[in-house]
Amino acid sequence: MQALTALDLYERTVQDPARAVDLLVSRHGGSPRILGEDFAGSAALSRCWVERVPGGRAIAVDLDGASLGHAPHPLVEAHVLDARSPTLARLGPCDVVHAGNFSIGELHARAEVLGWARSAHARLVHGGIVAVDTYGGESAWRIGALERRRREHDGSEIRWLWEQRAADPLTAEVVNALSFRVLWKDEVVIDRPDAFVYRWRLWSVPEIIDVLREAGFAAVDAHTRLDALAPGVPEDPAVHAGCVALVTGRK
Ligand SMILES: C[S@@+](CC[C@H](N)C(=O)[O-])C[C@H]1O[C@@H](n2cnc3c(N)ncnc32)[C@H](O)[C@@H]1O
Repeated sequence: MQALTALDLYERTVQDPARAVDLLVSRHGGSPRILGEDFAGSAALSRCWVERVPGGRAIAVDLDGASLGHAPHPLVEAHVLDARSPTLARLGPCDVVHAGNFSIGELHARAEVLGWARSAHARLVHGGIVAVDTYGGESAWRIGALERRRREHDGSEIRWLWEQRAADPLTAEVVNALSFRVLWKDEVVIDRPDAFVYRWRLWSVPEIIDVLREAGFAAVDAHTRLDALAPGVPEDPAVHAGCVALVTGRK
C-alpha cells in the first residue's frame, strides 16, 4: 500500500485530465500548443497536456505553491500567483486558457471574474479559446452527498465523498467538501475527512457567457454534453435536472 497525499487522492478520483485535454483540443478545433491553466492546483491537466499534445507546453497558475509544487514537470511553467493579479495578463501567448473543476467560483465578485476574463483575452493568440466550467440545473442548489468508490491495481479501494453542505440561492454561494478514505482488506488505512473544502460563488452559465462577451470574446457558447461534442448532437434533456457545462469563447 503506497502512501497517498490528499492531492494524490484528488487526482485519482475527481480528475480525468486526458478527457479534459481532448475536450479542450476539440473545442479549439485546430492544433493548439500552449495551455494556460489557471487555478491549476497540482497542474495535473498541464502535465497531461504536455504529454498528449504534440509540441505542447503549459503555463500553470495557482495561489498555492504547495499544490503547484506537487509534481513538477519540465514542460510546465508554474507561477504562484493570484488569478486576480495584473501579472496574469502577461503570461502569454496561449492557445487555450482554462479554469477547471469549478474554480471560477473562487472569485466571488463579478468584477473579479471580468478582470480574469480580460487577462485571459490578453494572453490568448488570435483564434485562441478561453474555457470555463461550472455546474447548474436544479440539483446545483440541493444539499446532499455522493459517495463513489474505485478499486486500485494494488487491491486497495478509494472511497470519496462529495458533499454540498450549503447553497444559498440569494447569494449564489455554496460550500462543498471532499473527503477520502482508503481501505486495504476492509481496514481503513487512510482517512482524510474534509481534505478539501470549497466556498464558491456558483456562477451560472448565462452569467459566465455575459462576462466572456464583455471581456471581448466571440462565439461564446456553452456545452453540456461534455462527452458528445459532435456538431448537431442535441442537448441532453437531463440538463434541467443538473449538469456540468463548459463555456468557451474565442478571441
Ligand atoms: C477546485 S481547485 C481546482 C484545481 C484544478 N484546476 C482541477 O482541475 O482540479 C481550485 C484551485 O484554485 C486555487 N485558487 C483559489 N483562489 C485562487 C486565486 N485567487 N488565484 C489563483 N488560484 C486560486 C486553489 O489553491 C485551488 O488549487
